Amino acid sequence: MSPVNRLQEIPTRPFHYAGAQDRDLLCDRVPLSRLVRAYGTPLYVYSATNILGRVRLFAEAFAGMRATVCYSVKANSNLSILRLLAAADAGFDIVSGGELERVRQAAKSSLRRVVFSGVGKTAAEIDAALAARILVFNVESPAELDLLEQRARHLRKRAPVAMRVNPDVFAATHPYISTGMTEHKFGVAIGDAAALYQRAARSSYLTPTGVSVHIGSQIRSAEPFGQALQRVVQLVRELQSSYGIQIRHIDAGGGLGISYQADDAPQQGKRPANAESFDPKAAVLEYAQQMRVALAGFDGELLLEPGRFIIAQAGALLAQVLHTKRNGKKAFVVTDAAMNDLIRPALYQAYHSILPLRRQQDRPSAVVDVVGPVCETGDFFARDRELAALDAGDFLAILDAGAYGMSLSSNYNSRPRAAEVLVEGNRHRLIRRRETMRDLLAVERTFLNGGAE
Ligand code: LLP
Repeated sequence: MSPVNRLQEIPTRPFHYAGAQDRDLLCDRVPLSRLVRAYGTPLYVYSATNILGRVRLFAEAFAGMRATVCYSVKANSNLSILRLLAAADAGFDIVSGGELERVRQAAKSSLRRVVFSGVGKTAAEIDAALAARILVFNVESPAELDLLEQRARHLRKRAPVAMRVNPDVFAATHPYISTGMTEHKFGVAIGDAAALYQRAARSSYLTPTGVSVHIGSQIRSAEPFGQALQRVVQLVRELQSSYGIQIRHIDAGGGLGISYQADDAPQQGKRPANAESFDPKAAVLEYAQQMRVALAGFDGELLLEPGRFIIAQAGALLAQVLHTKRNGKKAFVVTDAAMNDLIRPALYQAYHSILPLRRQQDRPSAVVDVVGPVCETGDFFARDRELAALDAGDFLAILDAGAYGMSLSSNYNSRPRAAEVLVEGNRHRLIRRRETMRDLLAVERTFLNGGAE
């Protein structure tokens, strides 16, 4: 039985309070206080059950269609997580030779389910992907099509090709992660695609097999996905009827959003004004329905590239409070995690719920900024947030950090990166050890007195 079928229930909230008087925050059945004692902080914790549950939501929502989830590796590329997803029959969406190598290391047999996206593939990356016999190259420009043909000829291989088309569809999200309009760098204008397909069809080294589209990330409404796909289906029909080019798959990209505010609810026993309810099952069903309508009459395979929806809510970043302080009217909670561990608030003004690992009913709430030790004012996790008062030594969890948390982390301020732990039921395993200064310094060289060592 596949790990997906093994699941009896899909907890929508992997992080929840339980224990005496519901005081302790757990991931699945593991108290997080146990994990911070065992592994230290900052610490990323993920629920395997929740990750697999999200894959199953996709499988159920797309039942009856030939649909394959190609998990977007950039969201979280830990080898154990890739292996977990491969065991659940997922394919992978990659954007670099590095991500290709991760898939190879985690699950070699999944290489044939890899789609390779990205506006700037190098010759070396293309060569590696050709040698790995991936499923398809999502080509984003005429120049890339030329390069792909040249490399395929050189290696005497045939490259499967999908043009990534830019459908010029507006989708409401943060401007940094909106990709589906002509002003963005991604894809080729949908009107220019037919000529490129003809070019590919004429080549002995290229085989047009698909069309791909990706309109952006953290998109909360299903409609733009349907609109984009309708334009793609029109193109597929034109390719078939006008040029006899058969398209076997449509890749709808990723982008399905989540709610970052729904988990504030358990914090103080009352729902803050900004909390909303979020039903992931309803979200993916509505998304699938849009696709089903748009794809009516297309009998090929549908590829999907979700990242955030699969893993964001399965993960939290745990931190310890180092100090609390006041500057004038402002109160600050300084944690041992910082923007180098989770940059989303700094980069996209993103909201993440913050919960204490131990709830104390008698503590008053206070309006605080939760900040890290990095030397930038942009180093914050929350601003002017009402939280149950936190003291030095307390631990907290920054929720919905499973996607684009660890994968966007850095060593800024020479801070070794956090450890990662995967929880399944009542078990927990370290899936990435904490970095040490030795790791950081290992790749550097010093030149003494101006001469090389
Ligand atoms: N496919 C392609 C071609 C992509 O560019 C992306 C994300 C995905 C799939 C997955 O999208 P998702 O399902 O995760 O929305 N760092 C930002 C998000 C960047 C998304 C980049 N591309 C954030 O933390 O919000």
